[in-house]
Amino acid sequence: PQGVLDASPGLQLDVLDKLHNQSVLTAALFDKEMMCELVKLAALMQLKRFPVGHALNDRIMAAAFFEPSTRTRLSFESAMLHLGGKTISVADAKTTGVAKGESLRDIGQMFNSYADIVAVRHTEQSAIQELCEYLRIPLINGGNGSDEHPTQALADWYALLKWRPEIAFGELDEKFRLNIGIIGTPGNMRTVKSFLMLALLFHKNINHITIFSEMADPLGDDIRELVKSSPISIDFSQNLQQSLEYLDVIYMNAIAFLGDGYRFFGDAFSLNAESKLKDDTVILHPLARGEELSVDLDETEHNLYFNQADGAVWIRQALLLAVFGRLRDLVPAEYLA
Ligand code: CP
Repeated sequence: PQGVLDASPGLQLDVLDKLHNQSVLTAALFDKEMMCELVKLAALMQLKRFPVGHALNDRIMAAAFFEPSTRTRLSFESAMLHLGGKTISVADAKTTGVAKGESLRDIGQMFNSYADIVAVRHTEQSAIQELCEYLRIPLINGGNGSDEHPTQALADWYALLKWRPEIAFGELDEKFRLNIGIIGTPGNMRTVKSFLMLALLFHKNINHITIFSEMADPLGDDIRELVKSSPISIDFSQNLQQSLEYLDVIYMNAIAFLGDGYRFFGDAFSLNAESKLKDDTVILHPLARGEELSVDLDETEHNLYFNQADGAVWIRQALLLAVFGRLRDLVPAEYLA
């Protein structure tokens, strides 16, 4: 994280003020300025530059996961606990009134009564939007069906910006601009879609994005216009293995979810320690992994995915502090712009 701080000026709290009391439904909420400030704040906390253990000691987060999760729920809870907050949790929809047919309207009313913020994961894309209609507290989308996972994208980019702070805080010479490969389909993979949306913010330092999938058109309607209007050149390919030699960053996902396509293409979209990666290529994967990412890459320099999962706590802490508007009394003046 020190590289982020060395490359950037002090925190601009007025930028983070825009997140105060905001629900986080989509990665479209974040602009480049906000990303830079969140990343700097996360880096300061990861480096333990000032105490934060009391910041949210009067706040409760409900972590309501109606679909399984390891990282998102636990890292949100860990983030809240680091900040002195408290958590209440749903880890399995079957243990709630959902099993008896309870409506989102009534569940939303309970969130209002029992918590000050709610992080929600749901199998249905529309559930998040519907819950918001009944909520008086901010909602953070922890993954809604095949739509979005905005805070995963924050964790993805926190890892990448620690790896190369210049992507956000500098201007790379043309020959050093990133070539990014994304394995998956933004149209129906939520982490891929949110990652791509944030990638577009850093277009000045990205040379090219290739989306690898078995589909002729992996973009969904939602993101098609956004991609078309971006200055980054984006193309589509089925030839991952032949393209490895020019990729600086590879974003993978559990492509087993592609179902028949994965079985048909076998290991065409998989990586292992024998894959012909450049020496300095980094691999991101939101995890949980399937066969596409071999464990023999874990001990290599290509592994940025554990850093990505580890950093999720700090970037989620930064987001929670901004949404609760608790920064002005917390961050010492020496760290402010
Ligand atoms: N990255 C991610 O969303 O992981 P979980 O499904 O474990 O939350």
